[in-house]
Amino acid sequence: MRVLVSGGAGYIGSHTVVQLIAAGHEVVVVDNFGNAKPAVMGRLDTLTGTHIPMHAFDVTDKDKTEHLFATERIDAVIHFAGLKAVGESVQIPLDYYQNNLESTFSLLRAMRRHGCHTLVFSSSATVYGDQAPVPYQEDYEPLGAASPYGRTKVMIEHVLRDVAHIETDWRIGVLRYFNPVGAHVSGTIGEDPQGIPNNLMPFIAQVAVGRREKLQIFGDDYPTPDGTCQRDYIHVEDLAAGHVAALNRIVNSDDPIRTWNLGTGTGTSVLEVVKAFERASGQPIPYDVVGRRAGDLPAFWADATRANEELGWHATHTIDDMCADTWRWQSQNPQGYDDSVEE
Ligand code: UD1
Repeated sequence: MRVLVSGGAGYIGSHTVVQLIAAGHEVVVVDNFGNAKPAVMGRLDTLTGTHIPMHAFDVTDKDKTEHLFATERIDAVIHFAGLKAVGESVQIPLDYYQNNLESTFSLLRAMRRHGCHTLVFSSSATVYGDQAPVPYQEDYEPLGAASPYGRTKVMIEHVLRDVAHIETDWRIGVLRYFNPVGAHVSGTIGEDPQGIPNNLMPFIAQVAVGRREKLQIFGDDYPTPDGTCQRDYIHVEDLAAGHVAALNRIVNSDDPIRTWNLGTGTGTSVLEVVKAFERASGQPIPYDVVGRRAGDLPAFWADATRANEELGWHATHTIDDMCADTWRWQSQNPQGYDDSVEE
């Protein structure tokens, strides 16, 4: 298939592009480089041994999106593009609602107009809110989220369901990610957050490489085995494989829409991640335990049974793999993509 990957220069998008091409698909990328660096495209060309067509614009732009579909053959879309920082979404909610919803509307309308009805959408475990029993299962209702970012995911899931309910020629896969970490095994592409990382793994990696002095652990008085929060960390390569599996499944399915969790099915604590990273990198990770971060849940992980059974997919990378690959990327690229000359 010829697959349009929105946000294909971003962290999860770029890893998915590599696996799509390895699986025999053709890829077209659209990205506004709002949270990605142009240098990633040259690295993707090198990794895949092909020149990937690239459109540099924001898919909220309806005219440009329409023009893209009018001029490129597109069989399917994987929609990653969007704003994703939970804390920032509280500060600038209108930007989050506008960007994440309008990009989806713009794509859906252009797709429909051009007879393309196959879509994989990036959702998040955040849609389970704070009441769902652990492990999280896909059928849980009602969806809810504690941040504007999370609510954009809930809203888009509802939009997709309503559309697919009445326009039954759609084939939509909704993928709920748990905590994506890790990097391509080559160390040439990885996560490159702007400014101070919000998320645990990139923060630890920047401490290990000497960009930050120490980690702050947000609370060690949770009702968990070691008192720190537990999450379902999933290697970005497993996540990317999940997208390829979901795409192959939906095109051969009778269901207009289906949702899958992409997680490992196990929880790992903050302290366990710190220890695993020290083992993988050989670097000490100094930390202070500070107060809890507002909005953090004590522990959650995926029930990954549905993806195992229906997609034939399961996560294969351990937390040690995740740390080793993150470290390879971070140590080879201490300043992220800013180390590279733009190709
Ligand atoms: C957050 C988002 C989630 C998003 C995910 C991306 C919420 C509430 N959170 O998840 O939507 O998909 O990022 O990976 O929607 N921690 C520290 N010190 C730090 C940073 C984090 O101790 O400097 C702890 C946190 O308290 C948490 C764990 O590490 O227990 C993981 O945090 P983080 O990587 O930010 O992910 P989540 O908050 O689980």
